[in-house]
Amino acid sequence: MLPIDITRTTSPKPRVSEEALGFGQVFTDHMFLMDYDDGDGWHSPRIVPYQPLAMDPASAVLHYAQAVFDGLKAYRGQDGSLRLFRPGDHAARLNRSCAGLCIPPLDEAMIEASFHALVDTDRDWVPSRPGTSLYLRPAVIATERFLGVRPAKAYTYFLIASPVGSYYAEGIDPVSILVAERHVRAVEGGLGAFKAGANYAASLYAAEEAKQEGFSQVLWLDGVQHRYLDEVGTMNIMLRIGDEVITPPLSGTILAGITRDTAITLLKDWGIAVSERPIAIDDVVAANRNGTLTEMWGTGTAAVVSPVGELGYKSEHLTIANGQIGPLTRRLFDAITGLQYGTAPDPHGWVKPVRAGFRS
Ligand code: COI
Repeated sequence: MLPIDITRTTSPKPRVSEEALGFGQVFTDHMFLMDYDDGDGWHSPRIVPYQPLAMDPASAVLHYAQAVFDGLKAYRGQDGSLRLFRPGDHAARLNRSCAGLCIPPLDEAMIEASFHALVDTDRDWVPSRPGTSLYLRPAVIATERFLGVRPAKAYTYFLIASPVGSYYAEGIDPVSILVAERHVRAVEGGLGAFKAGANYAASLYAAEEAKQEGFSQVLWLDGVQHRYLDEVGTMNIMLRIGDEVITPPLSGTILAGITRDTAITLLKDWGIAVSERPIAIDDVVAANRNGTLTEMWGTGTAAVVSPVGELGYKSEHLTIANGQIGPLTRRLFDAITGLQYGTAPDPHGWVKPVRAGFRS
C-alpha cells in the first residue's frame, strides 16, 4: 500500500458544542485526498488541512454527474476508545458504486486506511455525547477537463469528516412518510443500487412535495408498476407483519444498506423470521387495516433506525404502531448502537478499533 503523506493544519478550527450538533454542518480540521490519472492509476494518498477543491469548470463531474460516495461513522466508546463500524464493507460498497459508474476501482485496503488515518488525525473531533459520532464521507468525482460524454480519465477520491448528532430533527421519534405515487427514485437496470449522487438528485422533487404536505420523507415504490415498496427517503425499509419481518430484496433498484444487512443478521440471530421479498403497498394497507402490521422502520447509517409512525397514501393517513416506536424497532436501535459504541459483544466482528500511528 502507498504511504500516506500527512500535512497538519497550523490553524485548527474552533469547536462546536456537542449539544448543538445536527447532521453534516461542521467539518474537522483535515481531509484525505488521492488522485487518479490514466497511466499512473491511483496515486498520492495524503491528508491535508480541510480546504476547498480547486476544479476546472469543464470537469466531467460538474456536467455529467460521474460521482459516487459512501457514508460511515466513527464512535467514541465510554472508555474514550474509537471504533469504526464495518469499514471494510463500506470500502467494498464504494468500489461497487465506482464500477457502476465506470470509475476505476481503488485499493480497498487504501480506502480503509484512509478512514483510519483521517479519524486518527482528527481524533479529538470524535464527539462523546450519547448519540453523537464522527460521520465519514468518502467520495469519488470525475475531474477530467473534457465535455465529451464518456468515462473520465482523471478522478479525485476525497474523504471528509463531520461530527454529527441525529440525522432527523425527530431523532429516534417516529417520522411521517408520504407514499410517492408519481415520482420514482430508480428503475431496474439503472443506478439505484449504487451510491451515486445522481440518485439523491432524483429524490429531491418528490421529497420537497412531501414536505409541503407536512411529511418528513417519501416511501418510494418500484418504477414500473408503482406498486412494490423500494426505499424510504434515503433509507432501506422494513416492516413487521405478524411474526415476520419483510424487506424488499436487493433486486437492483435499492442500495445494499450496511445497516440493512446488520439488522437482518441480528433479527435472524434472535430467531425472528426475515423475508427479503417484494411487498406491495396494497398489502401494507391491508395489513394496517387488519392490525397485523405492527411496526415499520427505515435503516441507514445516518439515522441507524428510524420508525415510521404515519403513512400518507391516496389521501388517507395510516397510523402505524400508534405513532410510537415499536418494541422490535427499539430493540434493533439499542442493539446496533450498543455494538457501535462498544457496549455489546460483537460476534460478527463488525467493529474495528481505529488504528493509530498515522500521525506526523
Ligand atoms: C444514510 O442513511 O446513511 C444515508 O444514505 C443518508 C445520507 C445520504 C445523508
